[in-house]
Amino acid sequence: MNSLLRSALISRSLRGTHNSYISPSCVHPSRYITTSPARKNNDTLVGVQAALRARSDPTFTPRPTLLQKEFDLTGRVAVVSGGNRGLGLEISEALCEAGAIVHCLDLPETPGDTWHATQKYVKRLNLPSARLEYANVDVTNQGLVWDTIEKIAENEGGRLDVCIAAAGIITGSACLDCPAEEFSKVMNVNTNGVFYLAQAAGRQMVKYGRPGSIILIASASGTVANIGEQVVAYNASKSAVLQIARSMACELGQKGIRVNTISPGYIRTDMTSVFLDARAQLQDTWASQNPLGRLGRPDELRGVVTWLASDASTFCTGSEFVAARGDLLGITRANDPNSKHISQDEFDHFFFVTASARIR
Ligand SMILES: NC(=O)c1ccc[n+]([C@@H]2O[C@H](COP(=O)([O-])OP(=O)(O)OC[C@H]3O[C@@H](n4cnc5c(N)ncnc54)[C@H](O)[C@@H]3O)[C@@H](O)[C@H]2O)c1
Repeated sequence: MNSLLRSALISRSLRGTHNSYISPSCVHPSRYITTSPARKNNDTLVGVQAALRARSDPTFTPRPTLLQKEFDLTGRVAVVSGGNRGLGLEISEALCEAGAIVHCLDLPETPGDTWHATQKYVKRLNLPSARLEYANVDVTNQGLVWDTIEKIAENEGGRLDVCIAAAGIITGSACLDCPAEEFSKVMNVNTNGVFYLAQAAGRQMVKYGRPGSIILIASASGTVANIGEQVVAYNASKSAVLQIARSMACELGQKGIRVNTISPGYIRTDMTSVFLDARAQLQDTWASQNPLGRLGRPDELRGVVTWLASDASTFCTGSEFVAARGDLLGITRANDPNSKHISQDEFDHFFFVTASARIR
């Protein structure tokens, strides 16, 4: 981004209007921004509309906007639960690179070494507004979550633009033995905690009258069960997250708040390492379930999360983005050494069931 454009964005951000850069075709009419002709000329026209203006107005300067504006998060305030490590931290760093001020929420009183290294790295990127902050919050405590998010929004000058609910846990118990406490614990973090954070963020977005993007990290396991794994509570909790997002999207759309889910496939993090390190062949088994023939990397979520957080996705709400869908297509019979993949018939049936479930 050139320095002129960046300083224009910062000064807009300081005036509290940055978040209002939205292509007029993408927002609810009540969120339209009244602009002076000069500002409209430079700030709001994108793509073909900009091309048509350039044709009729010789003073209009053509400029690329896709990466410079639509994806830009300069001055935006974000919260990310589970932000001390793993996918939450990777996502936080990506949002910072796009210009955001990111508050990571997690269980440890103070964040770990990797978090501190990432905070230093963000500082050294020398971006005008990007910052990485940390708060010790248990997402299962609704009152604490609401209060913390309220304070963050207030301290950041009355704004909250992006919320990512990535905190999660997994446990393994056979479905017939899974104790009530274990089932409740997983549901409490993965479903209730996600809901409390989404609520808290939505409340601040409404309070300050700003459009916002809420992204819930679900899982491919919210749609299909993992053959060979005993994770009934986890799968149930992630399925619930998909419905939370759709329900909230329906209620909050008219207020300019979008709610979507990202469902990662298998990615090696501390969470999955517990499984992978315990079973020598598991990495190969999981890799064989994906058309790409491998597990994902945390950094492979950077693009989709930044896109969903930004104005590049302003017509997307109530949607699930699966990264990678391959995990849903290439189901392996992990327990059957003679048959690595499901048959075509099984696949067709599975695909039909999944597709019809989606269309509904
Ligand atoms: N890694 C994968 O393959 C994968 C696949 C699909 C979905 N996911 C989901 O992505 C998210 C991040 O997973 P990850 O792989 O980075 O795992 P991770 O274990 O590395 O990170 C999870 C983070 O959540 C935090 N957390 C747990 N309970 C919390 C609570 N009560 N309050 C606040 N923070 C809490 C943990 O301290 C940790 O920092 C999870 O929701 C997970 O279910 C991961």
